[in-house]
Amino acid sequence: MEKKKIIFKINGVEKTVEVEPNKTLLWLIREVLKLKGTKKACERGDCGLCTVLLNGEPVKSCLVLAVEVDGSEIVTVEGLSRDGELTPIQKAFIEHGALQCGFCTPAFVIVGHWLLNRNPNPSREEVVEALNGVLCRCTGYRPIIEAILDVAKKRK
Ligand code: FES
Ligand code: FES
Repeated sequence: MEKKKIIFKINGVEKTVEVEPNKTLLWLIREVLKLKGTKKACERGDCGLCTVLLNGEPVKSCLVLAVEVDGSEIVTVEGLSRDGELTPIQKAFIEHGALQCGFCTPAFVIVGHWLLNRNPNPSREEVVEALNGVLCRCTGYRPIIEAILDVAKKRK
């Protein structure tokens, strides 16, 4: 299959990559760029664990073709912190024990970050709705919601 050259920014760094047209953004992130924080699970859009920000909006990267991100800006969980310092949401997840196996955590952190940027003071219902597309198989939803609400409260 003929490869196509794509140019995009990921976590603030410009990249040029040649990709086959049938490869996904998830594959590009994990297998080419070796950013393993974005998780590979169902690969069919059901679990949301592969969620990243594409031009500022959350997308399931297993449902996006790599060629589609030409000219775009992507942020993965690795791109949220600055100088190795955890973000307030990451700290709140630790404080609230909002992770069990931790496999879903990068996706929840990405969605929580997106939500609080867009809506700095969300209601509990708005947090629940925003997290709707991400599944935690350990079922620890309550502390995840509390952690995000706590960040919003402390920012007030
Ligand atoms: S791996 Fe993409 S939605 Fe499950
Ligand atoms: S903490 Fe295990 S999948 Fe969510």
